[in-house]
Amino acid sequence: MTVDTRELLLSRIRDVPDHPKPGVMFKDITPLLADPVAFAALTGAFAELCVRHGATKIVGLEARGFILAAPVAVSAQVGFVPVRKAGKLPGATLRQAYELEYGTAEIEIHAEDLTPGDRVLVIDDVLATGGTAEASLELIRRAGADVAGVAVLMELAFLDGRARLEQALRGAPLEAL
Ligand code: PRP
Repeated sequence: MTVDTRELLLSRIRDVPDHPKPGVMFKDITPLLADPVAFAALTGAFAELCVRHGATKIVGLEARGFILAAPVAVSAQVGFVPVRKAGKLPGATLRQAYELEYGTAEIEIHAEDLTPGDRVLVIDDVLATGGTAEASLELIRRAGADVAGVAVLMELAFLDGRARLEQALRGAPLEAL
């Protein structure tokens, strides 16, 4: 990605203090989505990673990951598979729990959407603690597929999600645009 593209993307991410609760600086990507040039540049950068890492499927993480991952799948001509919060998918699912700061959460995937031999790139907007991405890698492997990597727009380095993900990645790349 060129320096100009990176600057464009950064300029379209809005910092919102104290959202959704006091003390949190929320990274709002809606200005980026509303700018077709920036959105296309981001889609192109993700699609390049998809090709570079030989992905045959893209998994998007609910909800903002869906918005970013779907056009990448179309552009790279690979299938899109949603990982949803538990209880939303209608078919036979695999479910994975993971720890939050307080309590636990669960995510699901339709088991039939991935097949052995698939190489999956996970796409999301933000890597924070890494819990969601880590659980998604577990689901992908339980479905019998391989992990091509994880690609995010932003990595909140101070939360050290990269360290939490290291073991689950098993050498696959973590790309933060
Ligand atoms: C946010 C973000 C990532 C996840 C990162 O999603 O979009 O999916 O949290 O956090 P982690 O690395 O600590 O797991 P959120 O759960 O807020 O869902 P949303 O996109 O539906 O708002």
